[in-house]
Amino acid sequence: MEIARTVSSVPVTAKRRILAPTMGALHRGHGELIRIARQAAGPEGEVAVSIFVNPLQFAPGGDYAKYPRPEADDEEFCRKAGVDILFRPGVEEMYASDFSMAVDETSLSHTLEGKSRPGHFRGVCTVVAKLFHLLSPTAAVFGEKDFQQLAIIRRMVRDLNFPVRIVVGATVREPDGLALSSRNSYLDPAERQAALVLSRALAAARGRWDAGERDGDRLRAAMQDVLAAEPLAHPDYVSVADPESLVELGAIPPGGAALASLAVRIGRGTRLIDNLLLEP
Ligand code: PAJ
Repeated sequence: MEIARTVSSVPVTAKRRILAPTMGALHRGHGELIRIARQAAGPEGEVAVSIFVNPLQFAPGGDYAKYPRPEADDEEFCRKAGVDILFRPGVEEMYASDFSMAVDETSLSHTLEGKSRPGHFRGVCTVVAKLFHLLSPTAAVFGEKDFQQLAIIRRMVRDLNFPVRIVVGATVREPDGLALSSRNSYLDPAERQAALVLSRALAAARGRWDAGERDGDRLRAAMQDVLAAEPLAHPDYVSVADPESLVELGAIPPGGAALASLAVRIGRGTRLIDNLLLEP
């Protein structure tokens, strides 16, 4: 495995290269993206992983400083997963002190996570655009766990003609349903238990959906009812939206799909997100 810590040391290649961008604190969710990347790369191709805790996508006073950075464990994880290139630049390597550019998606970014975290997706798009330029991947893998991020990156690639194919990784969960997240490490045991309320709320929406419910308000209410029963849960948003436009849905026509998603603060303030695609 080749490790590049600077922009100029990223190896240039004519091979097919598949990139999995991450912020590190790698878990089985990231592992799944790396596995998919390995598959897409084939025996001749290369798998690249980037680890960069991107300050641009954190709000002032957010968890940027305390975000976990287990350097040695992450390196070991990548070696074991068969990664060919690990790109882990320092902040000053990515952002000049007078850095003054941004990539701004102006429609999908205004709802859900974007509404709660102004500037977040500008930070995400800007760093992903830089990573695409720096590593020139043939394809890049993103997780459905961050469904809105995936939709916005697809839009960026389409609208700005990045020659990168976007590949999707399904959400990896703990056996009890909790979606894996680097932020789960912030939870104490009581909060860890309470965090199950996210997947339970989504399961409630799925239950109603499978029983034929196609009213957005009633599907949102089903999730809210589950959340209301958990004293440690402080919901930020509960959404049933069009999976393409991310606009909230009222009556869902026959054959239509919906994205159920939510963000919830658990206990002392760890903010978790999860989602489930409800298909016809
Ligand atoms: P990070 O949160 O580290 O996630 C990196 C990738 O792993 C994302 O595509 C995310 O959707 C995926 N992922 C996270 N948890 C997952 C799970 N439980 N199952 C499957 N995939 C999962 O997302 C980011 O970093 C950053 O915003 C980034 C794109 C790297 C830009 O800084």
